[in-house]
Amino acid sequence: MSQLVDTFGRVHRDLRVSVTDRCNLRCTYCMPSDFADWLPGDHLLSVDELIEVIEVATENGITGIRLTGGEPLLRPDIVEIVRRINELPLKPAISLTTNGIRLVGMAADLKAAGLKRVNISLDTLDRERFKKLTFRDRFDDVIAGIEAAQAAELLPVKVNAVLMRGVNDEEAIPLLRHAIAHGWNLRFIEQMPLDAGNAWERGDMVTAAQIHEMLESEFTLTPVPSRGSAPAEEFYVDGGPATVGIIASVSKPFCEACDRLRLTADGQIRNCLFARDETDIRHVIRDESLTTDERRARIAKLFAQSTMEKLRGHGVNDPLFIQPTRPMSAIGG
Ligand SMILES: C[S@@+](CC[C@H](N)C(=O)[O-])C[C@H]1O[C@@H](n2cnc3c(N)ncnc32)[C@H](O)[C@@H]1O
Repeated sequence: MSQLVDTFGRVHRDLRVSVTDRCNLRCTYCMPSDFADWLPGDHLLSVDELIEVIEVATENGITGIRLTGGEPLLRPDIVEIVRRINELPLKPAISLTTNGIRLVGMAADLKAAGLKRVNISLDTLDRERFKKLTFRDRFDDVIAGIEAAQAAELLPVKVNAVLMRGVNDEEAIPLLRHAIAHGWNLRFIEQMPLDAGNAWERGDMVTAAQIHEMLESEFTLTPVPSRGSAPAEEFYVDGGPATVGIIASVSKPFCEACDRLRLTADGQIRNCLFARDETDIRHVIRDESLTTDERRARIAKLFAQSTMEKLRGHGVNDPLFIQPTRPMSAIGG
């Protein structure tokens, strides 16, 4: 089988697929509260289009599909998307990143359709702070969503938290304590320059080292060996079995082990979260002058081309770094 290998020898096995740029929260580090610059509806890939692209990707060595957004559970056909990916001949492992709000009604159906596990985002345990951080009063729905994911055995339930200085950084220890008590697999993610408001400040970022130091004041952290291509550095907490992950995307990039490609909801391949260029496949998918075989061959070629163009690193720490024009919500986190 052909593989997606770049000029640095990295083999790509993971495809992050954004199914929508819409979201039912307005997390301050992701989207301004009055954000209105949505993708045109007819640019979003249909289920058939998504499945064709994902099938071609699996024929080229992609073994894991992570569905994301925006908020992927806002897509009314999300269960069908999962089911159809699961029915593909090469059956990639399917996971999903969500804010959890709609999981109560959907977790069991998603599991039955073939979803393996979920990552749920939650930055605070304080209802009022949640409202301030997301501009929506949905804290209870997220907690209920996490419980629904556990009940549906979408395991392990990973909970992702972004800490912000002076906003929620005092919650590092309570979040970990709560996560351990409730069987969540907690991971802290450094805040990245991907907000639609361009408000990210390096000096304000709570770094992985600072998170580690805060946690070590309360817990003993021991590195879990064999990280592979995973973005999180995992630690046993007080000897285990509980663990905590720290994702140092900015302060300690892990680009040399990166095996990820991305597909935006409007059909653009991105070879890096921070890429400034995209490879358009929507026009190929919709080109009616092509036969199915020609179309699929073109899609495969564009995946290979985008992979070959991948840079050695994301460049966030380069003095000439320019933030991508698309915010995280439109790229797919
Ligand atoms: C963009 S969201 C999309 C999926 C889903 N709506 C969710 O809330 O998980 C995916 C992840 O990206 C994270 N994220 C968004 N903007 C970020 C930023 N500027 N820096 C770090 N993480 C960010 C969120 O916290 C979330 O865990």
